[in-house]
Amino acid sequence: MALARNAPNDLDAFWMPFTANRQFKKNPRMFVAARDMHYTTADGRQVLDGTAGLWCCNAGHCRPKITEAIQKQAAELDYAPAFQMGHPVAFELANRIIDIAPKGIEHVFYTNSGSESVETALKIAIAYHRARGEGTRTRLIGRERGYHGVNFGGISVGGIVNNRKFFGSLLTGVDHLPHTHLAENAFSKGQPEHGATLADDLERIVALHGAETIAAVIVEPMAGSTGVLLPPKGYLEKLRAITRKHGILLIFDEVITGFGRLGSAFAAQHFDVLPDMMTTAKGLTNGVIPMGAVLTTAAVHDAFMQGPEHMIELFHGYTYSGNPIAAACGIATLETYKEEGLFERACELEGYWQDALHSLKGTRHVIDIRNMGLIGAVELEGIPGEPTRRAFTAFLKAYEKGILIRTTGDIIAMSPPLIISKAQIDQLIGTLGEVLRSLD
Ligand SMILES: Cc1ncc(COP(=O)(O)O)c(C=O)c1O
Repeated sequence: MALARNAPNDLDAFWMPFTANRQFKKNPRMFVAARDMHYTTADGRQVLDGTAGLWCCNAGHCRPKITEAIQKQAAELDYAPAFQMGHPVAFELANRIIDIAPKGIEHVFYTNSGSESVETALKIAIAYHRARGEGTRTRLIGRERGYHGVNFGGISVGGIVNNRKFFGSLLTGVDHLPHTHLAENAFSKGQPEHGATLADDLERIVALHGAETIAAVIVEPMAGSTGVLLPPKGYLEKLRAITRKHGILLIFDEVITGFGRLGSAFAAQHFDVLPDMMTTAKGLTNGVIPMGAVLTTAAVHDAFMQGPEHMIELFHGYTYSGNPIAAACGIATLETYKEEGLFERACELEGYWQDALHSLKGTRHVIDIRNMGLIGAVELEGIPGEPTRRAFTAFLKAYEKGILIRTTGDIIAMSPPLIISKAQIDQLIGTLGEVLRSLD
């Protein structure tokens, strides 16, 4: 029997995440179907997906291979206990991930989301030092304007004031590097020129606390959620050199940049900087089934492999770590990326995407445009005294005109599925231009 899902009659019970609930429920925006580059709305309109859902559907929507893999797995082995038991699909996926990961990354710890990947990586970092006899290394360093999900570790190392200020004292022993978003880099194409020296601030933090108290630095190689903030040339290399010099682990949060967004499997390869751990989620399963993974070097993993063999080495894990259906979904997703050459496609389209985005320079209210791979941001001048309103109005108008964009503050961010065509890039940017010109 078909469920009456297209037209819910009561919107009250569902408390929606990161949403203006009252505003939404007065005028709901509902998607009821999706295929490839498009969503279908409840009123039957097609909306071009300019954001890959929430930066996650890198292969587009309802891809047959992925759908079939989930159906088959659900009918064969729906669940197996994640602790002290295994099933082949999770092992297979781990190997496939390592196949495309940077050389030197050798192990996979499964989670169910980006937020959980971050918590897992932070815990592994602290426990790693303890396992090696350096139990004083407990401090964690994040960065202003960083987004690392919504759990306590993630918001503590994260740098978004609204995500932090309502939630008490957070984790103690956390410091923040300055963000890398500099006015002099406005309208940069690709990596900006200025700001590598911002990484030197880590030396200041080390001098303040002593390296022997610091466990890890976590940064997004390219900050997505706070508006596509790119690493200045040389910045990540410097961060790597300073962390290595002081025995501090470097964690790249690749929840957005992983799985092709910048034209390589991971940003670590794109920038040729090897971290000690990488946090992933989203594109791992094309956003279809919740799953995340922390990827580590052999050195991090091996530090735990000591003591009696019957003892659990890491007291951490989730009921759904490596869930069979999620793992089957992950394998089918990675196969889709490979068979369709989607990471290469992102690379090939980068120039076209960049030109299209930067054609908006000079459009009303636009104060900056930045891009890399198949990701881009258009920053608007905010309405005085009403931050976020202008971009949010643009989002609503864009939706009415048939394109899905995302806003954060007064920044419009776009990250289309990697299957987007040039004509669809023209449609996305052309429609956005119309929307911007129509704003007050
Ligand atoms: C860099 C980064 N880390 C962590 C997260 C959190 O992921 P999730 O929403 O799956 O918990 C996100 C989500 O956008 C992210 O962009």
